[in-house]
Amino acid sequence: MKRSYTRETIENCTSPLIIVPYIQQKKNLAFIAATRKAGQKKSTATELHHENFKGNFKELLQTTTQEGARLFVIGLGKAPLATQWREAMAKCIRIATQKGISSCTIYLDDLTPSICAACIEGVTLTSYQFHKYKTAPPSTTPIHVKLGVADSGVNTSGGSKIVKTASIRADAVTFCRDLVNEPANKLNVSEMVALARKIARDNQLRCKVISGPMLEKKGFGLIHAVGKGAEVQPALIELEYSPEKSKGKRIALVGKGVVFDSGGLCLKPAASMVNMKTDMAGAALVLSVMNALRSLNVEHAVTAYIPLAENAIGNTAFHPGDIIFGHAGKTIEITNTDAEGRLLLADALSLATEHKHDEIIDFATLTGACAVALGKKRGAIFSGNAKLEEKWLETANSTGELIWPLPLADELEKEIKSEVADLKNSGDRFGGTISAALFLRQFTDAKKWVHFDIAGPARNDSPNLLCPKGGTGFLVLTVLDYLRC
Ligand code: BES
Ligand code: MN
Ligand code: ZN
Repeated sequence: MKRSYTRETIENCTSPLIIVPYIQQKKNLAFIAATRKAGQKKSTATELHHENFKGNFKELLQTTTQEGARLFVIGLGKAPLATQWREAMAKCIRIATQKGISSCTIYLDDLTPSICAACIEGVTLTSYQFHKYKTAPPSTTPIHVKLGVADSGVNTSGGSKIVKTASIRADAVTFCRDLVNEPANKLNVSEMVALARKIARDNQLRCKVISGPMLEKKGFGLIHAVGKGAEVQPALIELEYSPEKSKGKRIALVGKGVVFDSGGLCLKPAASMVNMKTDMAGAALVLSVMNALRSLNVEHAVTAYIPLAENAIGNTAFHPGDIIFGHAGKTIEITNTDAEGRLLLADALSLATEHKHDEIIDFATLTGACAVALGKKRGAIFSGNAKLEEKWLETANSTGELIWPLPLADELEKEIKSEVADLKNSGDRFGGTISAALFLRQFTDAKKWVHFDIAGPARNDSPNLLCPKGGTGFLVLTVLDYLRC
């Protein structure tokens, strides 16, 4: 989707559609200029002489300019949040696209980066579709969205840069959605590896891949165990981004990459299995982020650790009762082959911890219990470091991505203690999200570590204004913003 910055003034604008926001109790420079263009010489900041338009949030007034172009005035209520800018613009672009309009210009009063970014997110995310496998896809022409400012006194030199940065962020979300929406028969472990290699080439990242039996030889017994029952063998990807001037922190991102989770020999029932291509959403998130770091000029050194496997059923699959040595040297008794995510993450976290990062953050569609606890729209955050947790909560609050802290509750530690090995991989179903997090904590330094369980929000069951049914790209914006400061 094409998005650009324009220096054209509202007076000279020739777009077939002009969109201006209306904020209650504000000056609304763009709105005033637009209503003049619509022939309303007396329009002021507080009144629009048209159909009792009040400017409530998402209230839309559709009118025309004197030249016959369309004019949308979109209400934003009072003191709109970034998420409201996002939704308001999404609404306008949805309607414009339905009308077959090929280009439009959104005029803002000034160039506030966070508001520009929210507008670009709105127009990009609402336009996202996944029609790759439809032989007769619905024919919608992508709309070209231009962004301009009304105040001619404002210094507009940064406009193109702001639009470009915002577009990179929003495109990272749609890229993540694409990966999650790809079915397991198309995006298998080796395709994911090929994709990681391409991302490494495009962004000058160092890329290291260990796969198949080499995993076991190098001590990654848990990743190997989870993936060995599948036709396509498991892998562990390491991608390293080094910034041009390395003044920042050293951050590790770990993403669960189960390309399909059948449950293994502890097979899932059909209804629970149907969306299990989504089980690589953590990996998709980390790959999408790695693909954007260079163009966003991120100043931290970031290394991605992505364990990939298909949790398959078959005569070479791992069994309940198996005892496996992980990379950290601990032994794990398998009590449920469907608790495979924590096994992959254990080996990846252990490697990341060995490499001495300042912060280690993992993302995983880890437990169904998390969606039971928080609902399908909200993810859980765990950390052994309250300061880090607070910083993540703040960042997620500004992007509008919903997360909530859960405790690393010591009283549940007994759920992962085994009688025959150091640990077992599943316990009681009560507090299942917490015992999974406690399992992960065994493999890292909790003071540096943050864990996100995204089993619910990684996928959308029903379409909404900003996202169709399927992968959501949840947390891409939050992670990018976290890494950008
Ligand atoms: N991938 C699932 C978790 C999941 C469930 C993600 C629903 C998205 C939607 C994970 O591997 C799993 O199967 N977890 C088990 C753990 C249990 C066996 C201890 C679960 O949640 O039932
Ligand atoms: Mn599972
Ligand atoms: Zn899983």
